[in-house]
Amino acid sequence: MKLFSKTTCSFLAVWMWSALSALAITAPADKQTASDPAVGKAIYEAHCAPCHGTDGKGNGLASALLNPRPRNFTSGMFKFRSTESGSLPTDDDLMATTKNGLHGTSMPDWAPFIKGDSLKEVVNYLKTFSPRFQRDKPRPVHIGTPVAYSAASIAAGKKVYAKLQCADCHGTDGAGTGAVAKDFQDEWNFETNAVNLTEPWTFRGGATARDIYLRFRTGVDGTPMPSYAGATSDKEMWNLANYIVSIARKPVWKMNENEVKEFYTKLDAQAKADPVQRGKYLVRTIGCAGCHSRYTEDLSIVEGSQLSGGLTFDLYPFGKYVTRNLTSDKETGLGNWTDQEIKRAFTQGISRDGRKFLPFPMPWGSFAALKEDDQNAIVAYLRTVSPVHHEIPDPDKLNIFAYLWGKFRMLILKEQIPTPVYPMKEAEDQQKPVSQNPSGVEKNFAVRVDRAKEVRP
Ligand code: HEC
Ligand code: HEC
Ligand code: HEC
Repeated sequence: MKLFSKTTCSFLAVWMWSALSALAITAPADKQTASDPAVGKAIYEAHCAPCHGTDGKGNGLASALLNPRPRNFTSGMFKFRSTESGSLPTDDDLMATTKNGLHGTSMPDWAPFIKGDSLKEVVNYLKTFSPRFQRDKPRPVHIGTPVAYSAASIAAGKKVYAKLQCADCHGTDGAGTGAVAKDFQDEWNFETNAVNLTEPWTFRGGATARDIYLRFRTGVDGTPMPSYAGATSDKEMWNLANYIVSIARKPVWKMNENEVKEFYTKLDAQAKADPVQRGKYLVRTIGCAGCHSRYTEDLSIVEGSQLSGGLTFDLYPFGKYVTRNLTSDKETGLGNWTDQEIKRAFTQGISRDGRKFLPFPMPWGSFAALKEDDQNAIVAYLRTVSPVHHEIPDPDKLNIFAYLWGKFRMLILKEQIPTPVYPMKEAEDQQKPVSQNPSGVEKNFAVRVDRAKEVRP
């Protein structure tokens, strides 16, 4: 279970990323010195575009399978800033993100690859995607005088944690115990969770007292994590930051054998006691909703479409495959399926009527590695997903001649065939269920990404 969930978190990212990286890392990034927009562009297109898209819209080739999604730079909205809520980040913020990466997401740390002036160039280039950078100025926060880490500061910080009601979302212990709010969605309708504050290695914005201070002082824009500007004095905020530093638990890689056993026994017991919660965790980390939902043009999930299917994969020459409705709707979803049928579908790739799925895009071969308990937990959770009536058409396959011709082009002629296409549906068609829009499936998702054009500078 742990092994799987750990690998699975990064599975999709690593899969896409490793497929792309051979193509992507080509620019001699750290050799350049002159201040030249072409340099920033070349680095960006080599290193960043596979995820953030050539035009900065967050729609690169790998983006479809990533959660959280790569940032859409055209929006001018950034999560990890040293500036007021809603403000642009500073250049230093952007450089820090680029250098250090965002832990727990697919955003890599670029420090080993992009150095010195090249870093500045690529940051300057990504700023050209949003007109906000021309119009507005970042509004840096005044961070006051840091308070040294001490027992007294920690004790004082604990009181601030209670006073500011961080526990409502993060739990009394920072690990979610007793949290009042548990379901969170970000600006793009993706599920997110209140970070476990006892696991600082998962903090994307960094885990020093200063980083933590900045996170709650400025908020995480685009997510439910609010800004606490003006909520209390600078001194109290520094105490709170010290307190959060102090509640870090021991990471597994520092535990001895017995501690590791004990730790996982406890997790197993929690999973058994609450299979629905466990299933929800798995569905979220594996990213089932990332495929089994529909998208607006700006790559947000269409409100309320989570897990109800409708994303089309145009897999030439195999045909067009639409992700299916996993909600508990009895007619169009899994409401009338048995547990066994649901498990068979996502672990053996066999539909209820016996039809066999392709081994992609849904990697059911990998899902087969889930422990029985975890498979059951996923089913238990899917049963609780409110029904959404949304009929999904069967795959639209090419006729046998067109299919064979496609295979011939691919295998014998070795033509540069467009890569499987990640679906960007037009916004208005997205709003309608596929059942009301029979031609929609045909005409949408036609955006083909030519790998050669998309990835290389
Ligand atoms: C493998 C995919 C991937 C690649 C390649 C990648 N990023 Fe990202 N990047 C992400 C993801 C995912 C996020 C959003 C994470 C989040 O929202 O927590 C992100 C976010 C960002 C942000 C926004 C941080 C904020 O405060 O909101 C910046 C800036 C950024 N990336 C810069 C870069 C640069 C520069 C490059 C190339 C040198 C790059 N990224 C390459 C995946 C990638
Ligand atoms: C309304 C719910 C809510 C409240 C109240 C709240 N948080 Fe958060 N917090 C979140 C969510 C959700 C995230 C994850 C944001 C994301 O998706 O990136 C988060 C993220 C964080 C992070 C991690 C950011 C990173 O670098 O990845 C820290 C640190 C944090 N919160 C501290 C606090 C503190 C301290 C308080 C009280 C002063 C607090 N939060 C109050 C919901 C909340
Ligand atoms: C990379 C995209 C992707 C991901 C991730 C994904 N799926 Fe799928 N899934 C699909 C596609 C596409 C189909 C339809 C295949 C077909 O019709 O041939 C499908 C079909 C299914 C079906 C069959 C339903 C039916 O009506 O036939 C089930 C059940 C299912 N997925 C469950 C899951 C679960 C559970 C997860 C997460 C653990 C998941 N999927 C993750 C793409 C995905």
